[in-house]
Amino acid sequence: MPAETSADVRIVPVRSEGDLAQALAIREVVFIEEQRVPETIERDAEDARAYHVLAVQGGHAIGTGRLVMLAQVPEGESGKWAQVGRMAVLQASRKSGVGSSLLWALEEEARRRGCHGLILHAQLSAMDFYKRHGYVPHGAVFEEAGMPHLEMKKKL
Ligand SMILES: CC(C)(COP(=O)(O)OP(=O)(O)OC[C@H]1O[C@@H](n2cnc3c(N)ncnc32)[C@H](O)[C@@H]1OP(=O)(O)O)[C@@H](O)C(=O)NCCC(=O)NCCS
Repeated sequence: MPAETSADVRIVPVRSEGDLAQALAIREVVFIEEQRVPETIERDAEDARAYHVLAVQGGHAIGTGRLVMLAQVPEGESGKWAQVGRMAVLQASRKSGVGSSLLWALEEEARRRGCHGLILHAQLSAMDFYKRHGYVPHGAVFEEAGMPHLEMKKKL
């Protein structure tokens, strides 16, 4: 059953090429147009194997995020780990819980797959958002897609 967020927003898994196109369209607006991330970096080979979710409101996709199973366990950890990424909510729909609902849906899927933990590369501007969801900063600030990032981890 799809996870529910505010009254009229549903979180649904991407199940078709058409759904994936909607997720990529949101990422184009948020990362490529708004944040000026080069398209060659925003699009990567992980999209083909990732688990993607969409936030849908009134028949329109307004947010997305993805989960990628990690081939390598993060240093000092054990078991199965996955990476949350490409979390994006259209500007007009932010700060009403949509991002949180996307993240919960990805965490739920990670638990369903038996993951022991999640990592993500947080833009510094999004660090407090992830902290509020239990993610802990780890290591030094590094640059990715032209912006400062920090690795964050959460045990499930
Ligand atoms: C990061 C991002 C996905 C969060 O999405 P969102 O829908 O705004 O997330 P939420 O609404 O669940 O939470 C965002 C903030 O709004 C606040 N909020 C949530 N519901 C609220 C409400 N009803 N009223 C007021 N504030 C609210 C939350 O407390 C939260 O605060 P915090 O950021 O200080 O933790 C979104 O800002 C985004 O797409 N940013 C651009 C892309 C990006 O930076 N992605 C992350 C890459 S690491």
